[in-house]
Amino acid sequence: MLEIYDLHKSFGKVVALDGANLKVSKGETVVIMGPSGCGKSTLIRCINRLTEPDSGRIILGGQDVLQLEGRALQELRRSVGFVFQQFNLIGRLTVLENVIFHLVLGGMDQEEAREKGRQVLAKVGLATAETRRPHELSGGQQQRVGIARALVTNPSIMLWDEPTASLDPILVGEVLEVMEELVRSTATTMVIVTHEVSFARRVAERIVFMDQGRVVEEGEPKELFEHPRSDIGRLYKKLLQH
Ligand SMILES: Nc1ncnc2c1ncn2[C@@H]1O[C@H](COP(=O)(O)OP(=O)(O)O)[C@@H](O)[C@H]1O
Ligand SMILES: [Mg+2]
Repeated sequence: MLEIYDLHKSFGKVVALDGANLKVSKGETVVIMGPSGCGKSTLIRCINRLTEPDSGRIILGGQDVLQLEGRALQELRRSVGFVFQQFNLIGRLTVLENVIFHLVLGGMDQEEAREKGRQVLAKVGLATAETRRPHELSGGQQQRVGIARALVTNPSIMLWDEPTASLDPILVGEVLEVMEELVRSTATTMVIVTHEVSFARRVAERIVFMDQGRVVEEGEPKELFEHPRSDIGRLYKKLLQH
């Protein structure tokens, strides 16, 4: 479904990706973990070209992502759902308008888009919030709008960039619950960057550890946390013992 080969990206002198490789199968749920600054966001942002890598190869659903331009690139972006750490909602639009913004831009009929928007808002438990504006919602509710927006195009893959990292601890649970329910109820391929270790152990089919711009270790959660081979894996194991 997704294959990433030898991906490199630098920002000036800072090397964000230093030969990252990753494969994800169709329907698989993969959690990416690693210290802050190790390149997790850069890696997943390259998948739908929110960030342009310097070199490497990305194959998604048989397409050579880095070769796409214009309309084909737009179509790729529509087939990828992205959930941001900072929600990225548009303040002057209502909840429903935020969710369907890209559908309408893409030329879908308003009523059809609204109907789809309502369906995904119901999925994230926000059926009654459609006319509200982002600032009237809690952080957890805002992120659930972000999730609905990612879902509305029926993506073949969803990318999550630390979706609970900006939330008050008491609001994290409601978002993780929605995520877990989605993983269990849909066949969508998921690549989730998160520091939520217990969530990762419950939900991930595979965990991938990154360090210094590369994937350094991966495996099934239980095995990985019990017998880590990388330095970063051993650090996570220690964390779990406290
Ligand atoms: N737009 C950017 N401009 C400059 N440096 C960046 C940019 N995005 C990321 N970086 C740098 O690249 C490195 C990897 O960042 P990132 O992928 O955000 O790591 P992570 O998500 O694992 O915390 C960091 O050193 C970060 O400061
Ligand atoms: Mg990040």
